[in-house]
Amino acid sequence: MSAFGLPPEASTLAPRIDALLFAVTGVTTAVALAVFVTMIVFAIRYRAGSKARRADDVPAAQARARRRVEVAWTLVPLLLFIAAFAWATRLYVARAAPPAEAVDVFVVAKQWMWTLQHPSGQREINELHVARGQPVRLVMTSQDVIHSFFVPAFRLKQDVLPGRYTEMWFTPTRTGRFHLFCAEYCGTDHARMGGDIVVMEPADFERWLDAHGGTPDMAARGEALFRQYGCSGCHGANATIHAPDLAGLFGKPVPLADGTTVIADERYLRDSILLPRKEIAAGYEPIMPSFAGQIGEPDILDLIAYIRRLSGSMERPR
Ligand code: CUA
Repeated sequence: MSAFGLPPEASTLAPRIDALLFAVTGVTTAVALAVFVTMIVFAIRYRAGSKARRADDVPAAQARARRRVEVAWTLVPLLLFIAAFAWATRLYVARAAPPAEAVDVFVVAKQWMWTLQHPSGQREINELHVARGQPVRLVMTSQDVIHSFFVPAFRLKQDVLPGRYTEMWFTPTRTGRFHLFCAEYCGTDHARMGGDIVVMEPADFERWLDAHGGTPDMAARGEALFRQYGCSGCHGANATIHAPDLAGLFGKPVPLADGTTVIADERYLRDSILLPRKEIAAGYEPIMPSFAGQIGEPDILDLIAYIRRLSGSMERPR
């Protein structure tokens, strides 16, 4: 526990979030005190029958002073609010932009557990091992209802939704176990849907990865699924059907039949598998069948990892 009974600050973002929290709490406490002190002073000074209260006649100098007071109590709070807004916006932007060197971890939530997968293939349930100092980007989705990934020690919380990917990133700054909660009521065992983030020294983490052997990795699993689901029949090298070539696709802009362009990120690939008619690549017939209901979220993530590897780069779209 750190100051005021808060959980320890265990990510790079945590002290920055706390600083804002303490600043806003400090300012609001000071304003509340000032209001109460003024209230008490005025209640005594202008009480019934007091001299100050009987003076109905306000001299001109006092009226001018009043105007200055009004301008002050409008401008000072305005500046304070703008300062709080600017400060919080900086944090919001930092929280939304994972650093380029972040490693990805894929999270699938379901009633009532967290399944997590490292790109090198290691799978975990209700536990995530990471290295201290290494930024991690979580790509998260849900197989059923809305959940929320909450790590108090990192000062981070993000809803995890069915049907789309949400993101969150962090850089752990100290080793240890930090509790992970589900912070969205999701049914009977919601309260038990938790676990731990285990932060290890980088060397220990490498050993952990080796000991929990990742083979096959996600992309290799995705390659097997690519054949199993029949994707290779149209998108493979020897296919006779005119379907988009997936090599070199990930992270690139894709011109669509309606004249717009999208970036081929995880969201686009997922939608193309489940809702193939939503965004038709320009120059292709909308002949791909939907795989909705036939393919689970973990398999989709493996397929995306494979398509990403086909693109020859594990770099993320910016
Ligand atoms: Cu999952 Cu609450």
